[in-house]
Amino acid sequence: MDTGLNYNYKVVRQFTIATVVWGVIGMLMGVVIAAQLAWPALNFDTPWLTYGRLRPLHTNAVIFAFGICGLFATSYYVVQRTCQVRLFSDKLAAFTFWGWQAVLVLATITLPMGFTRGKEYAELEWPIALLITVVWVAYAVVFFGTLVKRKVKHIYVANWFFGGYILAVAVLHVVNGASIPVSAWKSYSVYSGVQDAMIQWWYGHNAVGFILTAGYLGMVYYFIPKQADRPVYSYRLSIVHFWALIFTYMWAGPHHLHYTALPDWTQSIGMVFSLILLAPSWGGMINGMMTLSGAWHKLRSDPILKFLIVSLSFYGMATFEGPMMSIKTINSLSHYTDWGIAHVHAGALGWVGFITMGSIYYLVPRLAGKTQMYSTRLIDLHFWVATIGIVLYIASMWIAGVMQGLMWRAVNPDGTLTYTFVEGVKATYPYYVIRFGGGLLYLSGMLVMAYNTWQTMRDTVSRDARIPALTPQHA
Ligand code: HEM
Ligand code: HEM
Repeated sequence: MDTGLNYNYKVVRQFTIATVVWGVIGMLMGVVIAAQLAWPALNFDTPWLTYGRLRPLHTNAVIFAFGICGLFATSYYVVQRTCQVRLFSDKLAAFTFWGWQAVLVLATITLPMGFTRGKEYAELEWPIALLITVVWVAYAVVFFGTLVKRKVKHIYVANWFFGGYILAVAVLHVVNGASIPVSAWKSYSVYSGVQDAMIQWWYGHNAVGFILTAGYLGMVYYFIPKQADRPVYSYRLSIVHFWALIFTYMWAGPHHLHYTALPDWTQSIGMVFSLILLAPSWGGMINGMMTLSGAWHKLRSDPILKFLIVSLSFYGMATFEGPMMSIKTINSLSHYTDWGIAHVHAGALGWVGFITMGSIYYLVPRLAGKTQMYSTRLIDLHFWVATIGIVLYIASMWIAGVMQGLMWRAVNPDGTLTYTFVEGVKATYPYYVIRFGGGLLYLSGMLVMAYNTWQTMRDTVSRDARIPALTPQHA
């Protein structure tokens, strides 16, 4: 019988707390830039408070800090539980924690100072990019080393998703990161022109596919069956889902470069693979949701399950909308508009945010040696505040986006534009205010979570000895 005594929960606990702390910081940055878009004077004419510098700080903080700390915590927990062995190396695992926090602190300092490679989601300058590589290799050694020494013959499907994400991110980071340094804090990409753009969006789209999707599907396949106390609806489908998803994602990047200098056939390939991507995405979503078969009533009373299942609805929404937006004629309307921002945040707030929050709520009491969170009502409050926040955010951006697209393409009979650009900006103003309100609600939910986590964890005497016995479902 597994007592939990032999697992390394210390590093899981550290990453869990880091997820909550960085979540608050990253979302606060989101709220600040949302406010700046409505009220530009909020940059106070200070270079390091300008929108152009704080926006990458937001994206880095939510994806690489909140998002990846959550993935570290859950992957380290799941790989130990499902392989029934301790992590491959405690020292290396501790190195990944402190190394990753160093990356995040350096990002928080250098981005507002204006140091950037100018590539979206790959802004961090070369010394930090090198540190990322070292930490990532250590992560891969810990994760795959644990798989190698597992006591269970079968490799549970969640580990396939986590493993796929770790390997793909390594390849993406190295290929897109190839640069020539010209000074301590400046480098230039080794690629140029349209090749540079293609490599960047091969990277960008697969960051979506492997960080913002595959890793979180690892959470789906572990935490939903656990929390619902039901087996995965179709284990066979989960394997088909894995291979179909990782194969298809790799080809879809060109949909970010429609109507550019990229050869037309490449754009079409991107579009076709994006349309195909609907199938594995929905296969995974349905597999996750149907895991609740026979246990739907639990949704009424279990707010953690609400987070986990509603995240899948948003995943379904984002992965329906994405293929539609990749159709060239639709993209000609949506591209450059706030429709894209609505799509991003349906995925980011609804899918990535909710699945992470649900999984963290599952972990916190177990890591604190408790049977449940300090307050279940506060989890419920978080769920509703955040859900209303998301609805306000994405509905306002959808309306704003379609309106912008239509205003920009409207022409008078004599061929001149019907609206000046600034008229479009003016018309968007109320929607920016609504989005700011939605973001504020989402952030408030995160603060409620931080309080609940603090209350649950604060008297955790320590350490692994207090972890209660848990029976792994997937022996
Ligand atoms: C079947 C799955 C998906 C497809 C085919 C897809 C497709 C697309 C398309 C066509 C765009 C607009 C590109 C443009 O006009 O510039 C886009 C943007 C984006 N999508 Fe998705 N999407 C999918 C799922 C997701 C999910 C689950 C997320 C998770 C958060 C996500 C995050 C993003 C982000 C961050 C961008 C903005 C990239 C940028 O311009 O910075 N997507 N996606
Ligand atoms: C309180 C919550 C949040 C607020 C208020 C917020 C707000 C914003 C704003 C105002 C932008 C810039 C939009 C623009 O350029 O027009 C943005 C961009 C972005 N945010 Fe958030 N955000 C929040 C949470 C998140 C989370 C949790 C994630 C990811 C897990 C995320 C991922 C992104 C990404 C990837 C972009 C860049 C999109 C693109 O370039 O197309 N955000 N966010």
